[in-house]
Amino acid sequence: MNQGLDDVVVAETVLSHVDGTGGRLVVRGHELEDIAGLSFEALLALLWNGLTPQPPWAEEDVRTALAAARLVAFERVAPTIAATDRLSAVEALRLFLASLADADTTPHHVLAAAATPVFVAAIARRRAGHVPIAPDPTFGQAGDFLRMMRGENAPAAHVRALETYLVTVADHGLNASTFTARIIASTRAGLLSSVVGALCALKGPLHGGAPGPVLDMLDAIGSFENIRPWLKQALAREERLMGFGHRVYRVRDPRADVLKATAAGLRHGENRIRFAEAVEAEALALLAQHHPGRRLDTNVEFYTALVLEALQIPRDSFTNIFAMGRMAGWTAHVLEQERIDRLIRPQSRYVGPQPQRPIAA
Ligand code: ACO
Repeated sequence: MNQGLDDVVVAETVLSHVDGTGGRLVVRGHELEDIAGLSFEALLALLWNGLTPQPPWAEEDVRTALAAARLVAFERVAPTIAATDRLSAVEALRLFLASLADADTTPHHVLAAAATPVFVAAIARRRAGHVPIAPDPTFGQAGDFLRMMRGENAPAAHVRALETYLVTVADHGLNASTFTARIIASTRAGLLSSVVGALCALKGPLHGGAPGPVLDMLDAIGSFENIRPWLKQALAREERLMGFGHRVYRVRDPRADVLKATAAGLRHGENRIRFAEAVEAEALALLAQHHPGRRLDTNVEFYTALVLEALQIPRDSFTNIFAMGRMAGWTAHVLEQERIDRLIRPQSRYVGPQPQRPIAA
């Protein structure tokens, strides 16, 4: 029984293709490396075009629509923020997204994409003991997010690095959270419910919950001398090394290289990068010994951790930042699924006992 549905094709999409043996990611006809320099707004235009009744989106249309919708979303912050105090950061985002009403008149794909950075920034500030800051529609989405989170404008290099990250993780075939979103969309439950479900799938450590633990691992290793013994002990305990392995890629995840270059371009201590590279090299060597029949390589989360750390994003917000980027893919897949309008309803094979005799009354 193929419990993980490995290699099973269950949807056709025009949005993205993950070439697991070639180590390529194609997004709407473009290699990842060719679109990594786009703004987040331009990437959304690329993904949404043709899936909504609107005439073709231009980057500027998306920028205007998102800026207005961020203001709408900010109205949800005050009524909800106190209820997040007993929750983790990702649980707080789940609550905020669930607070958006199906009756809201802002197109839901725009609202979901615009609301996420507003909520993620408010959550990070609240957890640091600060009040939320309102969006500024004159900013692009990435710059406004950093401004709302930090309380001051971010340097252009930081905005560019965040944008590269958001674009790099925006869509990735039928990953677990995107599949979840499409299943929910197929019931006609609506886009907002679909993306709440997607976030619930993303938060697991085998999917979007890994980058925080990558930094925890680097901290726990601590020194160059401790790399090999620490990793060996972790593998002897049959632990998974965070930031390595992937269901589809049998070679290096192409997103890892884009993000490694981004991390290297940020001034946050060359030692950190050198240390991470040393951990990566040793981990790959040990994983090859440990699992000779299964190629385990670096995945997107490893260098994500270094980029987000350099952007001074709190570790417990890493999964929420991933959701900001992946919201692009989730909304586009939901729009695509809604056009198909066919309930996703597979079958299970019953392996329990057969009825023997009627249950006594
Ligand atoms: N460290 C150690 N061993 C590993 C790792 C790892 N990172 N990844 C897989 N393995 C081992 C498994 O334990 C398994 O061993 P076994 O055959 O002795 O039981 C073997 O390699 C095959 O692994 P699978 O579980 O079949 O691989 P799968 O495709 O299910 O896993 C996954 C993919 C979940 C990403 C896995 O590699 C993992 O847990 N990695 C660590 C967590 C991580 O980095 N998550 C982020 C993924 S990227 C993303 O979702 C955006």
